[in-house]
Amino acid sequence: MILLRPRRLRRNEVVRALVREHRVHVEQLVQPLFVAELQQDVGPIAAMPGIARYDLGGAVAQACQLFALGIKSLLLFGIPAQKDDGATSSYDPDGIVARAIGAIKAALPEMLVMADVCCCEYTAHGHCGILDARGAVDNDATVELLSRIAVTYARAGADVIAPSDMMDGRVAAIRAALDGAAATDVAIMSYSAKYASAFYGPFREAAGTAPQFGDRRGYQMDPPNAREALREIALDVAQGADIVMVKPGLPYLDVLRAARERFDVPLAVYNVSGEYAMLHAAIANGWLDGERAIDEILTSFVRAGADIVITYFAAEYAKRHG
Ligand code: PBG
Repeated sequence: MILLRPRRLRRNEVVRALVREHRVHVEQLVQPLFVAELQQDVGPIAAMPGIARYDLGGAVAQACQLFALGIKSLLLFGIPAQKDDGATSSYDPDGIVARAIGAIKAALPEMLVMADVCCCEYTAHGHCGILDARGAVDNDATVELLSRIAVTYARAGADVIAPSDMMDGRVAAIRAALDGAAATDVAIMSYSAKYASAFYGPFREAAGTAPQFGDRRGYQMDPPNAREALREIALDVAQGADIVMVKPGLPYLDVLRAARERFDVPLAVYNVSGEYAMLHAAIANGWLDGERAIDEILTSFVRAGADIVITYFAAEYAKRHG
């Protein structure tokens, strides 16, 4: 019997690159971008080194820098001046996200602008929907509101609408509303399997969206469930989602892999704020080689089956690999 020697193909970088199975391309990455309406909300985010909240002009400048680095897809989040129980500033055509979409598309027509659609940045109570008389999130009333937000963003020039609320039936409703508004070219990237995760902590500081009472377990998914994620994705595909997403990333790589095997639609993963914060904390302490750790993590998403990786590391990765 001859000895089989897999190490032959690991001898140097040329041969390793030749047999490499997966690569992360800058074109697959989406950088989230926070845009604040009030000057007092502009500035760095403590738990997310290198990430900040920008005003309108700052967001456009940031978009230009990202585009120059090869990051040509952005996911926008807004921090509005005003919150109320009806989330009314969310669908205002003069609202901060609508204005940011318009300004970025005016400066960079080729930038693919994705807009997160959810009420939690706009409701005074911080939940992802409208509350009923009992104080519970009213699914169907929320879906109507989400459709309205989606049309506002589409009219402002968004290329992709990304509902992150986890209400039932929202993809079909948003698709119908977009089509009714002649926005048939606007795609839907659905946060299909979004878990009630501890890893959104820094985002809630960044976007000021921590719920004032209770938690999001009544609408976001229970972390131990994987089969249910596939059911959620199947429902979104049936309702017309163009792209489906698993979120967070690292703790749910198994779900990502299962989704890849089951569905043929483009699959996104969201490498969320807490994953970013966790890695940065270790890097700041000198406990990890940051560049290698970041590359390894981004590669894990692509290896698990993601086509699209939404990550706060996008710009950093592009600087080194663009
Ligand atoms: C809004 C929304 C959240 C994230 C994206 N959209 C927060 C949440 O659901 O609490 C999280 C993003 C991140 O943590 O990076 N619903």
